[in-house]
Amino acid sequence: MTTRFTRTFGVAHPIVQAGMSWASSNPALPAAVSNAGGLGVLAAGPMFVEDFRKALRTLKAATDKPFAVNVPLYRPQADEILDIVIEEEAPILIASQGGPKKYLGRFQTAGIKCIHVVASETHALKALEAGIDAIVAVGGEAGGHPPPEQVSTLVLVRAIAKAAPEAILIAGGGVADGAGIVAMLALGADAVQLGTRYLATKEATVHEAYKQKVLAAGIADTALVGAGMSPIRMVCNDFSARFLEAEAAGSDIEARRAIFAASSLKLAALDGDVANGKIEAGQSAGLIDDLPGAEDLTLRLIAEYRSTLARLAGLDIALESRLERSLQGVL
Ligand SMILES: Cc1cc2nc3c(=O)[nH]c(=O)nc-3n(C[C@H](O)[C@H](O)[C@H](O)COP(=O)(O)O)c2cc1C
Repeated sequence: MTTRFTRTFGVAHPIVQAGMSWASSNPALPAAVSNAGGLGVLAAGPMFVEDFRKALRTLKAATDKPFAVNVPLYRPQADEILDIVIEEEAPILIASQGGPKKYLGRFQTAGIKCIHVVASETHALKALEAGIDAIVAVGGEAGGHPPPEQVSTLVLVRAIAKAAPEAILIAGGGVADGAGIVAMLALGADAVQLGTRYLATKEATVHEAYKQKVLAAGIADTALVGAGMSPIRMVCNDFSARFLEAEAAGSDIEARRAIFAASSLKLAALDGDVANGKIEAGQSAGLIDDLPGAEDLTLRLIAEYRSTLARLAGLDIALESRLERSLQGVL
């Protein structure tokens, strides 16, 4: 399938493996996805600066296909990380959590394509106005940082596609299979970003206990935690219960901040403390029940979206012949 995304970024398929702190902070996951024809993304979020440079070099050596680097702009030493992305000539930057003006000029000068992650229509339009090459729009179902207002992916993606039809739009949040990919393309997206689905792969570097929690979760087993701060969607556990109880009891923001800060993604992802850590994952956890290799998963997604398209084409033919028959009945 050729879209404006595949043409602009030189990627074979409109599939992006989302940048995920810890889970894709290693070269193996993005290399597997890029080699299979999707866009693999190395997540710089929690990495030490020199580890990041090494991982980036390993990734460059592991694939001759396009890949991207995800940099959350609020992380400490974000500027040093951005410098390394330029020095090492990574082909694509995907930045999140901040505005594009911070980096866009020097990346354009360096000839590196830039994609910006947004969770609202307003921020999408601002990023496009600044001159970004494409945007990722993340809706309420997503793991990590969905929009605080929880506008669903279905509505957010459609709104942005209508407001900015000329923009290259990558949809994220709630997609776990080929049917979801086709749904997003139908809304007007040019590609789809999948996070939680790629979290549940062999190459994702989160603790085995974390992966098992994602596999065990049903579609209603995640919650948005941290309202009034920078809320995350996560699989419910003791930590989320503590936070949500404090919230329901009307405890003040400082008390809630203390509970929130006492937990972390690292605690769950690296240490495997899935009772007290932040098990960031989206609602699509409830659609996932296996831990394939990332290359197999990418090939499966491609096969699934093709079979979904064939099913839709079949519906079209069935509809046409029904219409024909009913017209014949009339005439
Ligand atoms: C464990 C985890 C870590 C994440 N870390 C980051 C990150 O470092 N930077 C970022 O831009 N988004 C991050 N995200 C959000 C994803 O990039 C993506 O937008 C989201 O997972 C898409 O929704 P889905 O999980 O429903 O597929 C993270 C998501 C998860 C699940």
